[in-house]
Amino acid sequence: MLLTGAGGQLGRALAEEFAGDGVVALTRAAWDVTLPPPPGLEAGSLVLHAAAWTDVDGAEDDPQGTAAVNVGGTANVAALGVPLVYYSTDYVFDGRKREPYVESDGPNPQSSYGRSKLHGEAVAGEQAWIVRSSWLFGATGHNFVRTMLRLAAERDEVSVVDDQRGSPTYVGHLAAATRQVVHLPYGVYHVAAEGEASWADFAEAIFEEAGLDTRVRRIATAELDPPRKAVRPAYSVLRSEKGAPELPHWRAGLRECLAGIRAAGERE
Ligand SMILES: NC(=O)c1ccc[n+]([C@@H]2O[C@H](COP(=O)([O-])OP(=O)(O)OC[C@H]3O[C@@H](n4cnc5c(N)ncnc54)[C@H](OP(=O)(O)O)[C@@H]3O)[C@@H](O)[C@H]2O)c1
Repeated sequence: MLLTGAGGQLGRALAEEFAGDGVVALTRAAWDVTLPPPPGLEAGSLVLHAAAWTDVDGAEDDPQGTAAVNVGGTANVAALGVPLVYYSTDYVFDGRKREPYVESDGPNPQSSYGRSKLHGEAVAGEQAWIVRSSWLFGATGHNFVRTMLRLAAERDEVSVVDDQRGSPTYVGHLAAATRQVVHLPYGVYHVAAEGEASWADFAEAIFEEAGLDTRVRRIATAELDPPRKAVRPAYSVLRSEKGAPELPHWRAGLRECLAGIRAAGERE
C-alpha cells in the first residue's frame, strides 16, 4: 500500500492508522506527484492519495500551479494502475443549499482550489474511491484548531466568521473510516463528522474544551479585513446517501485532537 502526502495532517493520520499494514508513506520529498513516480516504486495493491495543494487563497493567485498538483498529480497517481483513494472537498459545492449535500448533488465550485479538486476527481480513473470530506483538523499541521490556540495565547478576543457552516472533521476519524470505504464499490462518498457548526461555533468549542476564557466575536465574512481571496461556500455540510461510514461528532474529534496536542506538548 502506498500513501502520498504523508507529511500533511491527513497523511500523518493515515500513516498512523495503516502502520501495521505495511504502508509505504511518501512525503513530497520522496515523491513530488507533479512528476512521474520515482524509479522502482512498487505501487502495491492500493494507493491512499493525500497529497494536494491545499492553500485555498494561494490557489487564486496560481491556478496553474494548483492544477499541476491536484489534477496532474492525481493523473500521475492514477497512472500507477492500482485502486486509489482520492480525498476531495466540500469546496466542490457552491454552498447555496441549506440542508446537507449528498453525493447526487451537482458540484459547482466557486474557487480555483475547488475547481482543481473537482477536476482531480475526474482524472482519478475508474478504480477510485472519491472521499469528500470537510474542514479537516488534526494535532499537527496547518488547521483551524491550532490557529485558534495560537491566537488565544496572544489575545483576549478573536473575531471569527459566523456565516459559513460545515462539519469540522478530525483526521484520525477520517483515516479510520478509510478502512471501511475501500470495501465499498468504487465511486464518490461523503465522509464527514456528525453535526455541524459555524467557524465561530467551532472556535468557541475549542476554547471551552481547552479551558481558555478567550472570547469569540462573531462576524460576517464580508467584515473580514482584508477580505479572503477565495470564495468559500456559506453552507457545506456533507452527508451520505450511499452508506458511507458514519463518523463521530466533530466535538468528539475536537477532544481527541486536543488530547493529541497536549500529549505532544508533554513529550517535548
Ligand atoms: N484541509 C481541509 O480542510 C480539507 C478539507 C477537505 C478535503 N481536504 C483534502 O484532504 C487531503 C489532505 O489535506 P490536508 O488537510 O492533510 O492537507 P495538508 O496538511 O496541506 O497536506 C497536504 C500534503 O500534500 C503535500 N504536497 C503538496 N504538493 C505536493 C506535491 N506536488 N507532491 C507531493 N506532495 C505534495 C504537502 O507537502 P508540503 O507540506 O511540503 O507542501 C502536504 O504534506 C487533500 O486532498 C485535501 O484537498 C482537505
